[in-house]
Amino acid sequence: MDRLASRFVVFDGPDGSGKSTQFRRFARFAKEQGVDVEETREPGGTGIGEQVRHVLLDPENIAMTVRCEMLLYMASRAQLVEQRIKPALDRGALVLADRFISSTLAYQGTAGGLSPREITETGIIATGGCMPDLVVIFDVDEATAARRLSPLLDRMEQKGAEFHRRVRQGYLSQWRANPAAHLLIDATRDPEIVWETLLEGLAGKMDDLSRRDGRAGRPAANPPARPVPAAP
Ligand SMILES: Nc1ncnc2c1ncn2[C@@H]1O[C@H](COP(=O)(O)OP(=O)(O)OP(=O)(O)O)[C@@H](O)[C@H]1O
Ligand SMILES: [Mg+2]
Repeated sequence: MDRLASRFVVFDGPDGSGKSTQFRRFARFAKEQGVDVEETREPGGTGIGEQVRHVLLDPENIAMTVRCEMLLYMASRAQLVEQRIKPALDRGALVLADRFISSTLAYQGTAGGLSPREITETGIIATGGCMPDLVVIFDVDEATAARRLSPLLDRMEQKGAEFHRRVRQGYLSQWRANPAAHLLIDATRDPEIVWETLLEGLAGKMDDLSRRDGRAGRPAANPPARPVPAAP
């Protein structure tokens, strides 16, 4: 479990993929093992970010352009990185993030039409280059995800089956472009099976990261800049 110190792990995937369910369980599990865990969710996670979240998810804001949307997600993320993520990594915590730049690449990129290069470059500006060690992608088909979601859908969730199909493809193309930096999980299975797959996959990826860095975890202070993920 000390391999998790100063690691930055993102849980991501389409709406209704069950990422938050597994996120909560993994955060609880890691804390029970004595790990210092910093949990963040997007958009939001800070006072400023929650205000941005309100604007983004308001069903009244139908006039919002996809470029404006992308920049608002990045603005919320910029605040989150500086206020919570960087300080947590510096003190040696495991940062667990429910969504990050991978979401913007899937929703505003592959599904929304913005170029992945523009999003990646904006992401570097927003985060100052603070990128995750690993992105766990909970993969689910649109029909299964739609069945799981509540009938009270927010603005992002109301966008329809074709949009959500493209979102899924957006996540899969990120995984294909850089499988080492991602853990792809079949999230259509029962929660208990998803959980077991997640634990097994994370253990393997943490081994890979330790081997890559040649140590148990990243040093708590002045962590080295992470490699910037290739745009899919
Ligand atoms: N493996 C699973 N099988 C069936 N139902 C599930 C599974 N995982 C989660 N659920 C249920 O599906 C719904 C959505 O789960 P959850 O909130 O974890 O998804 P999410 O990916 O975080 O969605 P969102 O992007 O909307 O936040 C919840 O009602 C949850 O109980
Ligand atoms: Mg969620």
